[in-house]
Amino acid sequence: MAKNNSRTARYALGKSGITVTPIGLGTWQFAGGHRGISGWYWPDLPDLTAQQIVKQALDSGINWFDTAECYGNGRSERLLSESLKLCGVKNGDVTIVTKWWPALRGADSIRRTIDDRLRALDGYSIDLYLVHQPWSLSSVSAQMDAMTALVESGKVRSVGVSNFSPHLMRLAYKALKRRGLPLAVNQVKYNLLDRSIETNGILETAMECGATIIAWSPLDQGMLTGNYHEDPSRMKRLGLMRRKMYGFNEDRIEKTRPLIDTLKRIALKHDATISQVALSWLIHFHKGAIVTVVGGSKPAHIEDNAKALYLELSSGEMAEIDQVSCQFRQH
Ligand SMILES: NC(=O)c1ccc[n+]([C@@H]2O[C@H](COP(=O)([O-])OP(=O)(O)OC[C@H]3O[C@@H](n4cnc5c(N)ncnc54)[C@H](OP(=O)(O)O)[C@@H]3O)[C@@H](O)[C@H]2O)c1
Repeated sequence: MAKNNSRTARYALGKSGITVTPIGLGTWQFAGGHRGISGWYWPDLPDLTAQQIVKQALDSGINWFDTAECYGNGRSERLLSESLKLCGVKNGDVTIVTKWWPALRGADSIRRTIDDRLRALDGYSIDLYLVHQPWSLSSVSAQMDAMTALVESGKVRSVGVSNFSPHLMRLAYKALKRRGLPLAVNQVKYNLLDRSIETNGILETAMECGATIIAWSPLDQGMLTGNYHEDPSRMKRLGLMRRKMYGFNEDRIEKTRPLIDTLKRIALKHDATISQVALSWLIHFHKGAIVTVVGGSKPAHIEDNAKALYLELSSGEMAEIDQVSCQFRQH
């Protein structure tokens, strides 16, 4: 594998002026075992493991981190800031993305809760602030006005959305444009087993709006590692919700096996892993339009995944993966 530890490429987050490594660290797992919205989803993750994960990400060249209010009601944000401090990272050395949780809330909550986010991040600035879901009681325009006010008061640097449809993305883009701001990103699910943004208008609209896509679940929560194809009994260890939501079942293992076999064959040629090939495809196929945040529950996951930053597939390999996975364009 061609390795370049000095510098990896930097991709722009829309027209925000922020550039990042094409792979960032997702920290939903840091909420594991904790109460509150979404903390129940992952098993308990000890503080020490989270600290080791953050250190591994930094050591591997990753320069940005994705967290959210709803990941354990701020636990992920707190654990991220504590871990960055222990690694000696100063404010501004890395890029931080966090998200406002809109369910059963209006746009006024954006202003009312921002200081909680900043307290949880304990001295680290919010470079990019996202509306996590299109579920607010307020209009998109009112939410974007509230987000703009945060930029104007210096509480956040730029604004984006997550899980927004093409129509809602356009509304957000127009509302921000009226106030002189770009829509930096739409953070949505995208991976080789779910390519629906290529056909449902999300990718096209993001490009029209000059926004970057941040792909979440780039490994389909582990399905794209090949580990479950190698030994399907490993699926029994996963929580029921994860098995149901992500289709960890025998049928899907068989349906996806041709893709995993292709990735494995290509990985062997590069002395790489299946995960690295899946991630390298994802960050290169759309030529700068997509970056990704990948999560892990062990430092070894991050060490493995970050090597994808240095893995270059040939155009033939990229096309072959595209072809074998194109059935997953429709979801
Ligand atoms: N905006 C949104 O609505 C939204 C939604 C979902 C996620 N996100 C963000 O996106 C990030 C990534 O998504 P995700 O965590 O759902 O999915 P993911 O990154 O595709 O998968 C993460 C899981 O895959 C397994 N894994 C990762 N790397 C591995 C490796 N090299 N070898 C073996 N197993 C590996 C681990 O499972 P085990 O822990 O079981 O070993 C890990 O917890 C999240 O952390 C979060 O920041 C955002």
